[in-house]
Amino acid sequence: MNVAFEVKDRDVAGRLGRLEVNGRRLKTPALLPVVNPNKPTLKPREISKLGFDGVITNAYIIRKHEHLREQALEEGVHELLGFDGFVMTDSGSFQLAEYGDVEVSNEEIVRFQAKIGSDVGTILDVPTPPDAPRSRVERDLETTLKRAREAVELDEHPPLALTVQGSTYEDLRRLCAEKLAELPAAVYPVGGVVPLLEEYRFVDVVRVVLAAKSSLPPHRPVHLFGCGHPLAIPLAVAMGCDLFDSASYAIYARSDRYMSVLGTLKLEELETFPCSCPVCTRHDPDDVREMGPRERTRVLATHNLYELRRVIETTRQAIVSGELWELAESVCRVHPRAWAGMAELARRGGELERWCPAVKRSVFVCDEVSKGRPELRLYRRRLRDRFGELSGRKVVKGISRPYAEIVEWLEPWELAFADEWLGVVPGELSWSYPCHCLVEPSGDDEGEDRRRGEEGRRR
Ligand code: GUN
Ligand code: ZN
Repeated sequence: MNVAFEVKDRDVAGRLGRLEVNGRRLKTPALLPVVNPNKPTLKPREISKLGFDGVITNAYIIRKHEHLREQALEEGVHELLGFDGFVMTDSGSFQLAEYGDVEVSNEEIVRFQAKIGSDVGTILDVPTPPDAPRSRVERDLETTLKRAREAVELDEHPPLALTVQGSTYEDLRRLCAEKLAELPAAVYPVGGVVPLLEEYRFVDVVRVVLAAKSSLPPHRPVHLFGCGHPLAIPLAVAMGCDLFDSASYAIYARSDRYMSVLGTLKLEELETFPCSCPVCTRHDPDDVREMGPRERTRVLATHNLYELRRVIETTRQAIVSGELWELAESVCRVHPRAWAGMAELARRGGELERWCPAVKRSVFVCDEVSKGRPELRLYRRRLRDRFGELSGRKVVKGISRPYAEIVEWLEPWELAFADEWLGVVPGELSWSYPCHCLVEPSGDDEGEDRRRGEEGRRR
């Protein structure tokens, strides 16, 4: 197995990276569109032209249909799909969750994925639904762990995805992640979240992902299984998820739904296309409404993929710009339940502190949620643990940033500023990170200009 994951940049707990398996490269964060090998809405070749370097398909479905199985075994899954990029395969676990049973064993499906040349193959993990009784979750978890151990021991297996399960129990998610972390995997997915996403239970998504992440090895990519929701992606990347997959681009298209910055919209209610992708530039909603069902689905699916690509690329750039928290806040504002997820992440911001970049050019603060930002928590904790005594200083309240010049008749070390966002700022730290670079609602414009420095902010 030849797998490398290289992290090139980070922000919050998110990573900009590169996953390389068997010479095939994937830039992360990445979204893998789901391709149904039986009836693809768009062909993998078409998907790759829209700017995706990888797809995910279902080995269980391939194995179940003789014509697909034979071709995949003879020529490999890449030939079968007509796509030479990164191909991850799933195992039938989702079918297991939907229909209660599958006609394949863990060993068979893992070996099969090796035989057809999957770049990453998945064990037959057991996705337990949210809120299941604890005894059932524990039982399912044992099965998932047993299958993970069985898979890594096989003489023939693809680079493996070992899925963290544990339903909505944070301690069981942590336990599962701890046990899986002892086994070698190419990718550690977090599974069983589709029902949470479908019901917009973003708070629970945040809880289970943080619990899993807390015990997974930081040098391996984490996949959020079944998450292709544009609202969830920046938030999930901020928690350290690197891979996503989406069948939603096609499922939505089949029911005339259009992904947008405003959330998912019905084709029938569109006055205009709020997008400038090639599809939306060429067509208007009336054109598309008049198309036959096949063409309409293809056109909407193509737009939906462009929209997902926009979200992923924006998220990638936000990591480089150090603005991932800002992006997640602004995207989550679109839906109150997504915002509740963001607020949960802010409440748990302490768990992200250790991943925070040491400095950045600016930190935007808007409200209580921004107060939970890991950058601010890190400052407060370090001040408490490392700075030493502040008593005896003159505390200055109610003045705006930048502080230092304001009380000129005292030396910085005789002063401390009461700060709405940071708590206390000792005079001598008032020009250092992050004290000098908060951008807050009650800004002093002159101070803002000075803080921007010579280069100015990038937005
Ligand atoms: N696809 C969506 N959710 C899951 C999951 O929990 N496990 C697997 N293997 N695939 C999925
Ligand atoms: Zn579009």
